[in-house]
Amino acid sequence: MSKKSSIQSFQQKSGLFWEEKAEALEVALAKNKIIAAEKKKLRLGKQGPQHRLFEGDNLLGLKWLNQAKEKFDLIYIDPPYNTGSKEFKYNDRYVDEEDELRHSKWISFMYKRLLEAKQLLTEDGVIFISIDDYEQARLKLLCDGLFGQQNFVANFIRKCKAGSGHDSRQVAIEYDYVLCYAKEIDKLEFAKATVDVESDKKYRYSDEFVAKRGKYYLRDLDYRGSYSKSMDYVIEAPDGSKLKSGGKIGKPNTWRWNKAKFEWGLKNDFIEFKQRKEGWKVYIKQYQYVDNQDRKRVRKLPHRAMIDFSNAKGSNELKDILPDEHFSYPKPTALIRFFLDLLDKKEAKVLDFFAGSGSSLHATMLQNQADDGERSCTLITNNENEICQKITYPRNKKAIEGYKKRSGKKVKGLSDNQLRYFQLKLKDA
Ligand SMILES: C[S@@+](CC[C@H](N)C(=O)[O-])C[C@H]1O[C@@H](n2cnc3c(N)ncnc32)[C@H](O)[C@@H]1O
Repeated sequence: MSKKSSIQSFQQKSGLFWEEKAEALEVALAKNKIIAAEKKKLRLGKQGPQHRLFEGDNLLGLKWLNQAKEKFDLIYIDPPYNTGSKEFKYNDRYVDEEDELRHSKWISFMYKRLLEAKQLLTEDGVIFISIDDYEQARLKLLCDGLFGQQNFVANFIRKCKAGSGHDSRQVAIEYDYVLCYAKEIDKLEFAKATVDVESDKKYRYSDEFVAKRGKYYLRDLDYRGSYSKSMDYVIEAPDGSKLKSGGKIGKPNTWRWNKAKFEWGLKNDFIEFKQRKEGWKVYIKQYQYVDNQDRKRVRKLPHRAMIDFSNAKGSNELKDILPDEHFSYPKPTALIRFFLDLLDKKEAKVLDFFAGSGSSLHATMLQNQADDGERSCTLITNNENEICQKITYPRNKKAIEGYKKRSGKKVKGLSDNQLRYFQLKLKDA
């Protein structure tokens, strides 16, 4: 299928239409080959994972990585949100709010880059994309089409600021999003969160088993769910009276446990009777540290899609390293570390092709230090406003070599890391 008709067919299937035009860079690509020239002086570290920084347009970078048949386990990107404030350049021109084709240009730009990115993902890989309300809906359609709706993992809702209510007209919007897609949903396995039973106030009772089992809360044994005869039996209360789930034998109520399990619970102090106004009630004692078979348990649950990583933290991190440079809204390293932690692969190959200030590399190095990981990170960013040379590289250089915060506090270098700096160029084929 020709390039044009494959885009048309994509548009029809995804329900997302845009005007497709080749970027000047793509025209140039047809006659040139991509080279990545290493800047020899910009090479840091002698041991540890090898990270790379590519300066140049990410379309070149992504194509170069694909030509080299590279693969990545985790991609995090934070593309321009296209809000018209001189942050999205298309074909070397800023796209402003007046531009009627602003959405079309943004989708076309993202489509090409995400198509390349998809090819770079390992079979069990995952991509995270930061975005806000301005393009979230279009990006979701684009990604459903590109990665497959079945591979949608989550639309993380990130609380990114607080107290913006004063200058908002109707509703204070303090959130942006991170769309997450798997390359193949069945192959992706995220780590689970450990449930903090320690500070959970619902565990408020204790008995003689507290040292081993922890505190407990009471869970009604009487329950209305799917009916099963084996769970519908008579229980004898402490005063000899007869108790039936829902007050009678027969649908809809049953007990949560069958008779054998109930008898085990009674014998082993997992059952508690209480006399209430309406009569006797039977409860399961749900303990902090053991399950309902008296086995030690660490409670794990899937992570939630509501997250809280403030932009202010990201700005402070960067200002502490480079107080004299300005960069709007670097992402907090904690956000990217949360994603690295979710994937739970200590040797993951990480890619960020809208690297900006290079928070993803900094986050990767911090995460490696915290969990003895060996992750490597590849960054691609253009050099708009000399960002790559004045911020991305110096920031990570300082992170590797150590620096002093604005408060005067010294931060030890993440010295077991190597970083190489390349420039992407086009050369006559
Ligand atoms: C929103 S910022 C990313 C910020 C980053 N997440 C951080 O924490 O610092 C987007 C960055 O992508 C860069 N960029 C935009 N278009 C690009 C392109 N076509 N190729 C490479 N970089 C690009 C911009 O210069 C900008 O620095």
